[in-house]
Amino acid sequence: MVRILIEEMEDYAKENKIPIMLPDGICFLENYIKEHHIKKILELGTAIGYSAIRMALVSKDIQIVTIERDQERYQKAIENIKQANLQEQIQVFNQDIMDFQTEEQFDLIFIDAAKSQYVRFFEKFSSNLISGGAIISDNLNFHGYTKQEARIESKNLRQMVGKIRNYIEFLKENKEFKTIFIELGDGIGISEKL
Ligand SMILES: C[S@@+](CC[C@H](N)C(=O)[O-])C[C@H]1O[C@@H](n2cnc3c(N)ncnc32)[C@H](O)[C@@H]1O
Repeated sequence: MVRILIEEMEDYAKENKIPIMLPDGICFLENYIKEHHIKKILELGTAIGYSAIRMALVSKDIQIVTIERDQERYQKAIENIKQANLQEQIQVFNQDIMDFQTEEQFDLIFIDAAKSQYVRFFEKFSSNLISGGAIISDNLNFHGYTKQEARIESKNLRQMVGKIRNYIEFLKENKEFKTIFIELGDGIGISEKL
């Protein structure tokens, strides 16, 4: 039943050009959650609830708070979560991530929203992460562009790629976290709080 919903969500995302996690990236995330016995997750960037649902299905003990600013995607996420019967496990907030305030502590923060703001998101929520917890960031390869040496013609794309490269440098230099980079999906960073 949920399997069918997941396939329908994958089709919907494709048809409506909604960027959801790639298959190997989401499988990695599910395994990470299992292996590290993660129980409380903050997700930045819900879209239609695909990754939130897949993460919640790892275990009934998992609680997820997830944020989406787009009204239509938020509504779709609410519908999908209801259909999956996961309302008790997933809480969705329809607002900008930078306006979201919480005192809660999480053992995993998953960043999958506006790439240009990753440093700001990381800094805003790193105090909401328990020591030993991790911040996982998706899309660090940005479709292969961040590793591309040749000059990128489009100015917007160049700026975006520059911001992601800055974020990667920020992670490498951050002394409070140890980051490893994994070539899965669109490039994933795992930053463990020391
Ligand atoms: C890559 S999609 C999330 C995909 C989702 N994690 C999944 O794999 O199913 C990124 C989402 O973040 C949302 N977003 C981007 N910047 C945001 C912000 N500042 N505040 C709230 N939502 C934001 C976008 O509207 C978009 O739906």
